[in-house]
Amino acid sequence: MNKNPKPHSHNHPFVMEAAPRRYAWCSCGASQKQPFCDGSHGSTGMFPVIVEITETKTVAWCGCKVSGTKPFCDGSHKKFND
Ligand code: FES
Repeated sequence: MNKNPKPHSHNHPFVMEAAPRRYAWCSCGASQKQPFCDGSHGSTGMFPVIVEITETKTVAWCGCKVSGTKPFCDGSHKKFND
């Protein structure tokens, strides 16, 4: 029974179509615009992961913040319970 300690993290990926551009994925879990950065990391000492998507495609953005392939889901969220 593990709970993810990050404040606004989710125990599932955010699966959505991503248009070609740069994205700032929230790594600290404090953003209220998950899975993307809203600047809330401020004093956490953490920073967003910047990634360039070069073609329109479906992306599974990590919501739990512990993926080994950040910013993308690798299934690590399965160790957390809702
Ligand atoms: S949401 Fe799947 S690894 Fe984080």
